[in-house]
Amino acid sequence: MGDFNYFNSLAVYACNLGLDRPERQALIKSIEADHTKSKTPPTKGDSWTGDVNSSCQLHDQPEFDKFFKLASVAVDNYMTGLGVNTTMLDTYFTRSWAVRQEGSQAVSLHDHAQSHISICYYPEAHPAHGAFVIAPQELPNEFFPNLFSNEHHKTTGLVDANNPHTQSCYNLKPQDDMLLIFPSKMHHQVRPNADTYPTLARYSVSSDIVCTLKSAHLYEHGLPPLPLWKKLEILNE
Ligand SMILES: [Fe+2]
Repeated sequence: MGDFNYFNSLAVYACNLGLDRPERQALIKSIEADHTKSKTPPTKGDSWTGDVNSSCQLHDQPEFDKFFKLASVAVDNYMTGLGVNTTMLDTYFTRSWAVRQEGSQAVSLHDHAQSHISICYYPEAHPAHGAFVIAPQELPNEFFPNLFSNEHHKTTGLVDANNPHTQSCYNLKPQDDMLLIFPSKMHHQVRPNADTYPTLARYSVSSDIVCTLKSAHLYEHGLPPLPLWKKLEILNE
């Protein structure tokens, strides 16, 4: 028997953000207040998301100051850990919003294509909360299309559902004060809460992050610094 060798795996960074319980409760209270104010009628299937119902700029709200300060440090650790020299980049929170779900509500499979890095934070977790699901777009070991990504093949005996190579998605259970950081292009979704807790709410805070180069000199890739951009005034009158 030979060995499998693995190369350049997808990495999702997880850490404790460092907010104490009263601070995390205060964030939940703020999200709950925004949710209550929201006029959009709830749906059975979709979670309530603050970006389209309340605010997409939590990073400008004073009650989230400490959250974004600590998240900045975590994002710097993530980028540095990936081997990136963060002193050569300017990094921006661009859109930040809360998500609330209960009952059969979930978040369907998506990515954040307009962004570079995304974060997701759980102030308080409960065992019945729906999992964060990582569903990589590419399954590098799937040697013919849909072999692993179509669940049907796991019911016919064609592929072993328990073999780690055949997995097309991975569940990550939220923990108290857990911050996840991942490439925005990564496909992900959120499962509903366990149906034994129909009124239990699950809260999270998300933010999208964009990086620009501090100097555009001699670089082909990466966004040039914001001050070098020129608005097409004729299109923006
Ligand atoms: Fe997302």
